[in-house]
Amino acid sequence: VDKSRDINIGMIGAGFMTKLHSIAYRNYPVYFFPPAANPVLHTVCDLVSDLAETAALRYGYRQHATEWQAVVDDPAIDLIDITTPNYAHADVAIAAARRGKHVYCEKPLANTLVEARAMLSAVEDAGVVHAVGYNNRRVPAVAFARELITRGAIGDIYNVRAEYLQDWAIDPQVPMEWRFDAQRAGTGAIGDIGSHAIDLIRFLIGEYTAVFATHERHVRERPVSQSAVLGGARAEDLTSAPRVPVTVDDSVEFIARFACGATGMFQASRFAYGNKNTLGFEIFGSRGAIRFSNDRLWELQYYQGDDPADLQGYRTLKMGPNHPYGAAFWPIADLGLGYADIKTIEISHLMEAIAGSGSVNATFTDGVKAIEICDAIVRSAEIGGWVGIG
Ligand SMILES: NC(=O)c1ccc[n+]([C@@H]2O[C@H](COP(=O)([O-])OP(=O)(O)OC[C@H]3O[C@@H](n4cnc5c(N)ncnc54)[C@H](O)[C@@H]3O)[C@@H](O)[C@H]2O)c1
Repeated sequence: VDKSRDINIGMIGAGFMTKLHSIAYRNYPVYFFPPAANPVLHTVCDLVSDLAETAALRYGYRQHATEWQAVVDDPAIDLIDITTPNYAHADVAIAAARRGKHVYCEKPLANTLVEARAMLSAVEDAGVVHAVGYNNRRVPAVAFARELITRGAIGDIYNVRAEYLQDWAIDPQVPMEWRFDAQRAGTGAIGDIGSHAIDLIRFLIGEYTAVFATHERHVRERPVSQSAVLGGARAEDLTSAPRVPVTVDDSVEFIARFACGATGMFQASRFAYGNKNTLGFEIFGSRGAIRFSNDRLWELQYYQGDDPADLQGYRTLKMGPNHPYGAAFWPIADLGLGYADIKTIEISHLMEAIAGSGSVNATFTDGVKAIEICDAIVRSAEIGGWVGIG
């Protein structure tokens, strides 16, 4: 192991995403061997000291902290990884860039476009590597869909449909948390899950030119809980707990136009019974079509328009060693992939970018673009009309 390639990580946050990122750093050199650089789990920081301490023990960080400023200032740290809620991204990212650290930030990049643009300026001025966590781009089936589109397999793009559907918020007793609060999350379903679908389609077919949207808040207040976790509270009766207003959207629909001439239709909701976490799309072109759902994460459906009339139908391609990233995983196709594998692929890009041998999955520029589109969606819903982009 070449120690000169060690990348000391300062992880800010010790929640849901910290677990995912930490597993991915640990698995990266196992799958992607030899690694371009060696991620070292150096310091994990959370406002809640117990969480930081547990994360250090559980994931193997050398030390833990409660103040992100000290981690950003630590000369030993090479990369700041931001897994805090959306409102706590910008200050950390800007301070880290000013100290010359590479910055990897979860999506959406920030609460507001102003903050997101300031983050982009800071990393560009500092000349550091910057990445935002739109990991769904690197699902092998999605990366292969992009390859097929690029090589003209489905021809010119006519129409697209995309969705990101969950159902964890339907129960009005699901407690208040940062995801329901505009001050801390920016938007609701739009930025939290919709932005994944928005970014994915931009990755596949290019820039948006306009959107026309409507969104809705289905549950207007929620109980306060000391043990709120995504989608629930731990063993607590909340029937008589005080309730506070929800200030974000719960679901959104919009139509869109694209620079390539295509039109599209999107839906994102946390109120879609039966859908625990379904991200999917279908793209129709002049020569064929492509269909994907992360319910079948390692499969891509491909329709070839010139198949003989009696053989027409979607074929199911099983991702494996002959597809993007497949050689890093298993020797035969159809052995499956998981959530942490996708994040591991994203981290392989980050390590290659830091080592100077590749580029990141999605940059802060992509993060800013996604927020521009989310902002246009919110404005469109307010005015009840089309809003142009870019
Ligand atoms: N890419 C994905 O698939 C994906 C999935 C879920 C969440 N996310 C994103 O990841 C981010 C974090 O989400 P999560 O679900 O892990 O949140 P979480 O609530 O589980 O964890 C966030 C942690 O950050 C800590 N924190 C808050 N402010 C802090 C500060 N100033 N300094 C240090 N710690 C602080 C909190 O105490 C909490 O432990 C969000 O931006 C979210 O949108 C991305």
